[in-house]
Amino acid sequence: MKREPTGAFHEVALDDLFFSTTDAKGVIEQVNEVFVTMARFGRGELIGAPHNCIRHPDMPGGVFRLMWETIGARRAFSGYVFNLAGDGSSYWALATVSPLGKGYISVRSRPIDLGMRDTVLSVYEAAREAEDAAMAGGESAGRAARIGEEVILAELAKLGFGSYEAFMHAFLPRELELRQEAGVRIPERPQAAGTAGALLATGTAIEAQVRELAGALAASDHLAAALERRVDAAQRALDRLEEAVANARFVVSGNRAVEPHVARAAPALEEQCRKMAETLKGLREAVEETCGLRHGLRFAVSIAQLQAESVCRFAIATIDGREAAAAANSATQALVQALENGIDAMHASLDVDREQAARLAARIKAAESALTVTTLLLRKWRALVEKSEVRHEMEALLPVLDAGLAALVGELAGLHETAGAFAGEVVAFESAQLQQRLDQILSLNLIAA
Ligand SMILES: Cc1cc2nc3c(=O)[nH]c(=O)nc-3n(C[C@H](O)[C@H](O)[C@H](O)COP(=O)(O)O)c2cc1C
Repeated sequence: MKREPTGAFHEVALDDLFFSTTDAKGVIEQVNEVFVTMARFGRGELIGAPHNCIRHPDMPGGVFRLMWETIGARRAFSGYVFNLAGDGSSYWALATVSPLGKGYISVRSRPIDLGMRDTVLSVYEAAREAEDAAMAGGESAGRAARIGEEVILAELAKLGFGSYEAFMHAFLPRELELRQEAGVRIPERPQAAGTAGALLATGTAIEAQVRELAGALAASDHLAAALERRVDAAQRALDRLEEAVANARFVVSGNRAVEPHVARAAPALEEQCRKMAETLKGLREAVEETCGLRHGLRFAVSIAQLQAESVCRFAIATIDGREAAAAANSATQALVQALENGIDAMHASLDVDREQAARLAARIKAAESALTVTTLLLRKWRALVEKSEVRHEMEALLPVLDAGLAALVGELAGLHETAGAFAGEVVAFESAQLQQRLDQILSLNLIAA
């Protein structure tokens, strides 16, 4: 299968999804008809061949190292891949590889975010260059791939992604969103009867339900940003309040005209502000964790969506007679198994998201309770101050105290509301209905598909 790139390109059609299944070592077991068309090898040549048969020499080994590390830990991996077809031409694919039984399945689509694809290309070029230099210096291919992996991670860090995981969690949901915007829809085959028809109908309903969730979660990014803004603003309001309290304490403690109980009450207020600061720190951490987990959920939702679409498109190819019945049976089973895994992973991620949302809500509540105590203490103290001799000296400070407190109350109320909106879509999602639909598919006699 050795060949040189000719410099020619071909592109994956917008509507196409293509897949391959492999054993644990990456030896190809099954491919669909679109895969064969893109790879430009005969199906017979592909089955039983190692997956590197379509590796392009420009692809850095570091990417595949990252891929194998991820899937080897039984987690899904997504990446932009540049492949070399059998006739020497090249094509880009967005590949999502998931564990399947003892092996793996990769579902591929056309990369749509061309800005991202170009960015990835320059990251790959940097990695390839480092790998070539390492090999020219006598390093093994394995060692060079390790160097390439480090370069990729360093380049991604420069782009603001702390890990490859953070990167793929960001680009995959975006790619699927763009697929939607480009008008990609699963075609209908209303006349289709039998198992393939039933598979398509239920698969389409699953895809629609998962896609709807993905759409609802698309608002997560700006809600996450709003949560972070709110908690930072609450922190700033508390800083102002703490400063005003410290100034007020200074005035009352340095003033002999003040009744002792007015001076004595000030440290309690300061202590309460310190407690609030601790509570807000915990809240900040909870917000960050909540936002991070949401990225993971959106990635899991994207994968389930892709798996559902793969099942549907393969059912259509079977109905249309583009896939030979004998091969179609086991491929359908593999795709359905992948869908089941994808939905299980998505449900697990939804549970984690829901639990985290509940933890965040509890933290917000704790902050609100602490704020109620602060407000009461401040009001009491304010009343004492107003009745005391020191009220004239405090005239300028009291409005600052009031403003700090009001800002804090406002930010926490906003945080409460935003957190509710953030959790809302996930809480409302009908997991039971999705599971029912999946069970319907699993109960089909797929051998007869
Ligand atoms: C399910 C699956 C799909 C894969 N798809 C591709 C692919 O499209 N292109 C590719 O170059 N490698 C793909 N690989 C990775 C190859 O197995 C291999 O690691 C890679 O081509 C680097 O090969 P090399 O280190 O032997 O040169 C895939 C692996 C798996 C498990």
